[in-house]
Amino acid sequence: MKAVIEELERKRAAARMGGGEARIKAQHEKGKLSARERIDVLLDPGSFEEFDMFVEHDCTEFGMAEKKIPGDGVVTGSGTINGRLVYVFAKDFTVFGGSLSLAHARKICKIQDAALKNGAPVIGLFDAGGARIQEGVDALGGYAEIFQRNVLASGVVPQISVIMGPCAGGDVYSPAMTDFIFMVKDTSYMYVTGPDVVKTVTNETVSHEELGGASVHAKKSGVADAAFGNDIEALVHVRRLIDFLPLNNRQKPPVRATADRPDRVEDSLDTLIPSNPNKPYDIRELIVKTADEGDFFEIAPDYAANIVIGFGRLEGQTVGFVANQPLVLAGVLDIDASKKAARFVRFCDAFEIPIITFVDVPGFLPGTRQEFGGLIKHGAKLLFAYAEATVPKLTVITRKAYGGAYDVMASKHLRGDINYAWPSAEIAVMGAKGAAEIIHRADLSDPEKMAAHTKAYEDRFANPFVAAARGYLDDVILPRNTRLRLIKALRTLRDKKLTNPWKKHDNIPL
Ligand code: HXC
Repeated sequence: MKAVIEELERKRAAARMGGGEARIKAQHEKGKLSARERIDVLLDPGSFEEFDMFVEHDCTEFGMAEKKIPGDGVVTGSGTINGRLVYVFAKDFTVFGGSLSLAHARKICKIQDAALKNGAPVIGLFDAGGARIQEGVDALGGYAEIFQRNVLASGVVPQISVIMGPCAGGDVYSPAMTDFIFMVKDTSYMYVTGPDVVKTVTNETVSHEELGGASVHAKKSGVADAAFGNDIEALVHVRRLIDFLPLNNRQKPPVRATADRPDRVEDSLDTLIPSNPNKPYDIRELIVKTADEGDFFEIAPDYAANIVIGFGRLEGQTVGFVANQPLVLAGVLDIDASKKAARFVRFCDAFEIPIITFVDVPGFLPGTRQEFGGLIKHGAKLLFAYAEATVPKLTVITRKAYGGAYDVMASKHLRGDINYAWPSAEIAVMGAKGAAEIIHRADLSDPEKMAAHTKAYEDRFANPFVAAARGYLDDVILPRNTRLRLIKALRTLRDKKLTNPWKKHDNIPL
C-alpha cells in the first residue's frame, strides 16, 4: 500500500505542476497567477475539491500521442466562497496554452452538469488560446457541448466568467452566455478573431489590447461588466459578487445581518436635487445612502454610464438597483443604457432579487444615430424586461419622468408594486418648454406668451401630485426617509406571488 500511496502522491504532484516550473514562471512574469493560484484566491482556504486531475487527451495527430499532461489544460472542481458551494474551472495556460481538447471540454461539462444538478454557481477563469488546433472537429464539438450547458444553466444557477489572459475563438462564446464577465486590465483580451485575421480580412492594423482589451470591453462594447487591476483584485470581486447572489433560482437571495438601522434618516437627501432643474447630481449618492452600510456593488460602471446598475442590500436582503444617472447625458435612455439595464433586470427577475428603480429621466435620446441603430427595439428591451419581471418592484421618481421613459422605468402601469415620488418629481409627456412649443405653435413668435404657456405647463405637471391623485404613485415621500420607506415596502412584498401566463418562452425584442 505504501508504494501505491507514494505513486498517487507522485502523480498528484506532477499534475499540480501543470506545464512545469518554467511555464509557471513565465506566467508570473506576465503578471498573471497560475490556474491553481487563482483557485486558491477565489475559494475559501482548503475548500477546493478537485475533479479529473489525471484526465489526459487522446489525440494522436501531429505528434500529440507523445505529448500528454495530466489535467489537460484545465483545473476543475468545487469549493466554497464564504461557506457557500460553487463550482469552478480554471484554464491552465501552461498546458498547451490552455487550449480546449475534447477531454478538456468534458472536464468543464462535468462541472457544469454537477452545478446544475446541485444548484450552485459556476465560475470560469479564462486564460487560453481557443480550440486545440491538433484536434480539429473534436475541439469544436467540445465547445458546443459547453455552450449547450451554458444555455441550459442560464437563469437556473449564476454563471460568472473572469477573463485573465488571452480568450479567443471558441473561448469567448461561453463567457458571452454567462451572467457576468470580469476582465483583468492589461493582461487579458477577448475577441472572436485576432489581430492577424483582422489584418487579412479588413486590412486594419490593431493590437490585442486595442481590439479586445479590458478597456474596450468594459467601456466601449459592454461585453465586460467590470475591469480590475490584477488577478487578485478580480477574484476578490467575484467572491464579493457571489455574496449577493442566491446559489440557484429556487432559493431566495442570501440575507446578511447588518447593524445599519432601517430607520436611518438621511437629511442630506432633502437637498440632493439642485434648485435648477437642468443641473445634474450624482444618483449614486442616493443609492449609497439608501443601501445597508453604503455597500453598493456596481455592475458595468464604465459602460453606458447614463444608467447605474448594481447590487446592494436592504435589511440584509439583496436588491438590484437601477437608476438613471443625471450626471451623464442628463440620464437619458439610449440604446446602450437600455440594453445594459434590461439584462440586469432580467438577471434579478430570474434569481428572485427585488428591483429598486430610481427615476430621473428626460426621455429617450433623439437622433439618427440612435434611430438607425435600432433604438426602438433596444429601448423595448428594457420595457419588456420590466413588464415581464415578477419580483418585487419598487420605484422612486426623484425628478424627471418624461414621456415613454416614465412608462419604462418600472411604472405602476408595468406592475410596479410600490411607486413613490419625491416632492421634486416632474411627471409629464415632455419638458414644459417643448410641450408649450407644440401645443401653442401659433404663439411661437411671441416670447411673452410662450413664457406664460411654459409656466402654465410647468405649474400643471412639474410635480408628482397629478400622478398621485390618480393612484399611479402610492405616496409622495420625503427624500430623507427613502431608505425606511423602501424597507417597509419590501417587508410587505416578502411573500409576493405573481406569475406570468404559461409560455414556452417569451420573444423579447433582440
Ligand atoms: C494548441 C496552442 C493553442 C491552440 C496556444 N497553443 N494556442 N496549442 N492549440 N489553440 C500552445 C502554443 O503552441 C504554445 O506551445 C503554448 O500554447 C503557448 O502559446 P504561445 O503562442 O507561445 O503563447 P503567447 O505568445 O502568449 O500567445 C498566446 C496566443 C497564441 C495569442 C493565445 O498562442 C495564439 O494565437 N494561439 C492560437 C489562437 C487560435 O487561433 N486559436 C484557435 C481559435 S479558433 P509551445 O509548446 O510551443 O510552448 C477556435 C474555434 C472554435 O477557437 C469555435 C467554436 C465556436
